[in-house]
Amino acid sequence: MGEDRSAIRIAAIADVHCYDELQGRLRHELEPVNDEADVLVIAGDVTLNGKVEEARILTEEISVVHIPIVGVLGNHDYEKNQENAIAVELSRAGVIVLDGHTFVMNCRGRTVGFTGVKGFCGGFGDRLVAPFGELPLKDFVRAGQIEANKLDAGLRTLRVTDSTDFVVAVVHYAPVRDTVIGESPELFPFLGNSSLSEPVDRYEADVVFHGHAHYGSPVGRTPRGIPVYNVARPLVRSFVVHYLAESRVPSFARS
Ligand SMILES: [Fe+2]
Ligand SMILES: [Fe+2]
Repeated sequence: MGEDRSAIRIAAIADVHCYDELQGRLRHELEPVNDEADVLVIAGDVTLNGKVEEARILTEEISVVHIPIVGVLGNHDYEKNQENAIAVELSRAGVIVLDGHTFVMNCRGRTVGFTGVKGFCGGFGDRLVAPFGELPLKDFVRAGQIEANKLDAGLRTLRVTDSTDFVVAVVHYAPVRDTVIGESPELFPFLGNSSLSEPVDRYEADVVFHGHAHYGSPVGRTPRGIPVYNVARPLVRSFVVHYLAESRVPSFARS
């Protein structure tokens, strides 16, 4: 597939967890992306402890990247309540920070749409936590639903309104159980939420990238078979390149 010269090359990485030790090091890891991909996706946890100074280290390191960069924040980026300042810092460096927003780029005569959210915890499938009982638990469940709703709106815009040739979903938390396997089962409910996979399937995205599950599995699929890649740096070591070759006609658009 890598030999298909018309394929659009999406590089993705998550959980770089920038702190001072990575200063001057990460750039060497990222620089080859300029030759190997058309766009770089960063799927959250750009900082170690949610400090703006850590985000600034990332922006210095990614100054060697000259292709478009699209990303979402992760839970670590919220740790010091500086998530808005971190998003501004990334935006100033040219990163398209998605929180239900959409971004469309033209590449080799085709359009690629991106949308993304951080996502949240909650669990998967028939073990997804239910909004029953105490208010704090209902608030917890609602936080996951809000993220899934934002992703739904972004995917709907790309697939239905913009009709982009390709649709890419970016989340920090895992949208499927497959890609958290390898972590302790006790942690599964805190590693992702299968509500995120529902809009991915509904609007037939082409691919999903996420992070957060540092010790999970690199590849999985949604219930409808859409590929899901866990690109957490501790798991995959460096950016992963995915190729988009054949654009799909979504089943709801077929006559
Ligand atoms: Fe992480
Ligand atoms: Fe995380």
